Amino acid sequence: MEALKSKILTDGVVLGSQVLKVDSFLNHRIDPVLMSGIGDTFAELFADAGITKVLTIESSGIAPAVFAALRLEVDLIFARKRKSLTLRDDIYTEKAYSFTKQEENEITVSKSFLNAEDRVLIIDDFLANGQAALALARIVRQAGGEVAGIGIVIEKSFQNGRQVLLDAGFRVESLARVASLENNTIRFVE
Ligand code: G4P
Ligand code: NA
Ligand code: NA
Repeated sequence: MEALKSKILTDGVVLGSQVLKVDSFLNHRIDPVLMSGIGDTFAELFADAGITKVLTIESSGIAPAVFAALRLEVDLIFARKRKSLTLRDDIYTEKAYSFTKQEENEITVSKSFLNAEDRVLIIDDFLANGQAALALARIVRQAGGEVAGIGIVIEKSFQNGRQVLLDAGFRVESLARVASLENNTIRFVE
């Protein structure tokens, strides 16, 4: 998506060779015009996929996901993150280990918001190692539903997340694919 790539080039800040800071339009301040375009693009990509729900994870996945859900005219559910949790039987729970943050999150979704008839589009802001998306997919499976695809705003293609998700059999659509952040320079996949 060209508008997104331009925004990354003008406003993205490279931190070392591994992390791209995009606080000015995605992770802290949100650019609603860009987000709206992102929603349009996801909706076009998955127009024929029979999506019944969009699923993301708090907090930064919510902005792009809400625009995708708006364009697809379906509900958005965001999984909640909790460090520890007493077991309850009215929620789906999965663990997601973050290599970036070196911590494990428990993510939860109320059982009343996903069901076996759902065809779910999973959306997230970043794809690094794919663990958040996999945990969301396991929650969809717990509900008996089907993952129709995974939409990512910014994929770090030098990490293994895309391959992990493809190996698991999922359709992955990333709107910007960052090939490298070496030498303080953002390079996209051709
Ligand atoms: P994974 O799901 O692909 O395995 O990713 P990982 O656990 O490694 O990512 C942990 C958190 O770090 C996620 O945010 C993810 O969006 C974010 N992240 C990973 N790489 C980058 C990067 O290069 N730049 C930025 N800006 N974020 C990155 P989170 O902890 O869920 O927080 P939130 O932003 O959703 O609140
Ligand atoms: Na994030
Ligand atoms: Na996220």
